[in-house]
Amino acid sequence: MHSTASSPAPEWLVVPDDANDLVPSVWPVSARRADDGELFIGGVSAGDLAREYGTPLQVLDEAEVRRRAAGLRGAFDAAAAAHGTTARIYYAGKALLNTSIVRWVREEGLNVDVCTGGELEVALAAGADAANLGFHGNNKSAAELERAVEVGVGTIIIDSTIEIQRLAEIVVRTGAQQRVMLRVNSGVHAETHDFLATAHEDQKFGFPLTEAPAAVARIRETPGLVFTGLHCHIGSQIFGVAGFRESAARVLDLHQQLLAGGDIPQLNLGGGFGIAYTRVDDPVPITELADGIVAAVAEECARRGISVPALAFEPGRAIIGNAGVTLYEVGTTKDVALGVGTRCYVSVDGGMSDNARPALYGAQYSARIASRTSAADPVLVRVVGKHCESGDIVVDHEHLPGDVAPGDLLAVAATGAYCAPLSSNYNHVPRPPIVAVRDGASRVIVRGESMRDLLARDAGITQ
Ligand code: LLP
Repeated sequence: MHSTASSPAPEWLVVPDDANDLVPSVWPVSARRADDGELFIGGVSAGDLAREYGTPLQVLDEAEVRRRAAGLRGAFDAAAAAHGTTARIYYAGKALLNTSIVRWVREEGLNVDVCTGGELEVALAAGADAANLGFHGNNKSAAELERAVEVGVGTIIIDSTIEIQRLAEIVVRTGAQQRVMLRVNSGVHAETHDFLATAHEDQKFGFPLTEAPAAVARIRETPGLVFTGLHCHIGSQIFGVAGFRESAARVLDLHQQLLAGGDIPQLNLGGGFGIAYTRVDDPVPITELADGIVAAVAEECARRGISVPALAFEPGRAIIGNAGVTLYEVGTTKDVALGVGTRCYVSVDGGMSDNARPALYGAQYSARIASRTSAADPVLVRVVGKHCESGDIVVDHEHLPGDVAPGDLLAVAATGAYCAPLSSNYNHVPRPPIVAVRDGASRVIVRGESMRDLLARDAGITQ
């Protein structure tokens, strides 16, 4: 990501022929420009959305969520059937969770994965069948586990020896039968493209492969705990099959070894399927990914002479990411002369409080003027928020028409995953509402915060 000698733009950033274009891999399928240039999502215009709900606004295209959920389910169903097994898709609720989304993905035939007591309550409030939930987390409290067992959560993914003890105490006391998986750490780090295992994994999740047999033995000898298989999640924003294959191979060695102690019906390979945030991201089509991963698992099983277990996957971002678009209003613009070239800073009315990912991870996004198109030549911009912090970046590098100006509506694509869940009230900025659009209609699915909400927790305010 280095700038060239003649421009402050990074090398990967392409100057678009048309700085109004909507790159199909990045935007929801429904995104289009009307004749006058205005952006429509789910058949609703950006202007109407901004007038009705204000900005910033998190827009969620319901049809896109359903299309992606159904696409993943169909692709993995077909791939699994071709290899004589089945595949369940759990929507990873951490990416974005509210009762509407839970209902949409359930209606598309997905299960849901939660990772805290709070996420569990959202799924239950949506009417999800607890038997179709998976419950993750490296530090589930005794109270969270008790609640999960009481409501009948389908699978608890165990992350530590202490959790085995906590859960054993609950099932022995209540007489419950609880299905559990064991999260293991295969040593594969998909993000770094470095598949070399280190002897000791220096991170908090799961059991090292070497310690898993003892943990599984403890689970198996606990009446009330039903061991159903191994779980491994290798990371996020993964493009391609290689990391999944390598991880599956290592986990299947363990799986094969554990078969000596009894049947193991399942294998969960986690989530992490990558999406396009900018035009240079090139995710593998989901059918290709599903075919590739399931074929790799089947080959690794055949090599070991074992049958292919029922598979499970937990994508979050691949379902919700590109269905989200954030609308902002431009407040100020400022040309900053650099050693080489100029960068136009475009300030919008939100920022790191509604999208912390650029500040946290250096994440890249794409933006377009939403209220109009423009024939002005593209200029290099950095879209920034209104927070008192220079790292308050919304879109680090983008080209927008050079006449971008205060009052323009700006749309940032692919904000569906890990934006609202990581949002904050930094600088006492209220969180925006989440509005679902579909077939030309819009509705609030999570209401925005008001100033009253912000002041409500301050014990020094008496009225
Ligand atoms: N399963 C497990 C056990 C996970 O830990 C995660 C993500 C997923 C599934 C879903 O991963 P996905 O398909 O959405 O990539 N806040 C970060 C991402 C953190 C991911 C945490 N775990 C970000 O904004 O990029």
